[in-house]
Amino acid sequence: MKHLISAADLTRDEALLILDTAEELAAVSERSIKKLPTLRGRTVVNLFFEDSTRTRISFEAAAKRLSADVINFSVKGSSVSKGESLKDTALTLEAMGADAVVIRHSASGAPHRLAGWVRGSVVNAGDGTHEHPTQALLDAFSMRRRMGRLEGLKVAVVGDVLHSRVARSNVLLLHALGAEVTLVAPPTLLPVAVENWPCQVSYDLDAVLPKSDVVMMLRVQLERMNAAYFPSAREYSRRYGLDRDRFRKLHEDAIVMHPGPMNRGMEISAEVADSPRSTIVEQVANGVTVRMAVLYLLLGGAIGRDIK
Ligand code: NCD
Repeated sequence: MKHLISAADLTRDEALLILDTAEELAAVSERSIKKLPTLRGRTVVNLFFEDSTRTRISFEAAAKRLSADVINFSVKGSSVSKGESLKDTALTLEAMGADAVVIRHSASGAPHRLAGWVRGSVVNAGDGTHEHPTQALLDAFSMRRRMGRLEGLKVAVVGDVLHSRVARSNVLLLHALGAEVTLVAPPTLLPVAVENWPCQVSYDLDAVLPKSDVVMMLRVQLERMNAAYFPSAREYSRRYGLDRDRFRKLHEDAIVMHPGPMNRGMEISAEVADSPRSTIVEQVANGVTVRMAVLYLLLGGAIGRDIK
């Protein structure tokens, strides 16, 4: 594996290798000294054209824990704001000897283009409404840790599927790993051709909740909405928000996930978000471990050589 651009690029075995490597690396994250020498002398560039808190910091922490040199490039204050193209930016990074480029971009397909221009590995950290494969990997890792398995697990992914790269990557990855996904959303927030995705679709959250082992709530992405997709925030919450009453419909072992950032009070109530059955904070911690595994495998680390 050279690049990680889409969850669809991963076979079941490759996905499991990443999750298992992350499991080994998790032990390192629990030590007081969290660093491994594996990527010493290698350079990882974080190229973020879109706002991000947890994903950018997570990749930075992951690369640093593997002793890589990290260059954080954000668009504000760079020549991109002077109109420099993605290609020229890529050639600049290439000249600086980047071994891996982690890219987030508002255009779906930008990481794919970038991979054609640089020699290093490209990792997609979210492209438009297309994909966010490391988020899906950290979600699968978090589910497996809490529930003990992925095979046969019933996962509901709820909310603004239309604008969500998290939903698409999760459907593809979870399907490959044997979980059963149901997307739940109002018809206006489902993408065209969703019937071709390897999952079920429902408009009725109350019917799906009691049958679910995992409920993944998606952020309503108001910044990507240029039209009215639902009558009002209140109406959306009433039908598709996970509040205390709906939470009671879940069976007692079911867990609640959210990739963050949350609109508390809209798609999820504060009480549910902060409950012991919410994995939201664990997802952030697991994100670092899973991204370490991805960088480790892409940049040629051999498992077992220096984890121990
Ligand atoms: C997601 C993203 O940026 O796609 N967030 C994340 O990476 N943790 C989801 C979102 O923005 O709602």
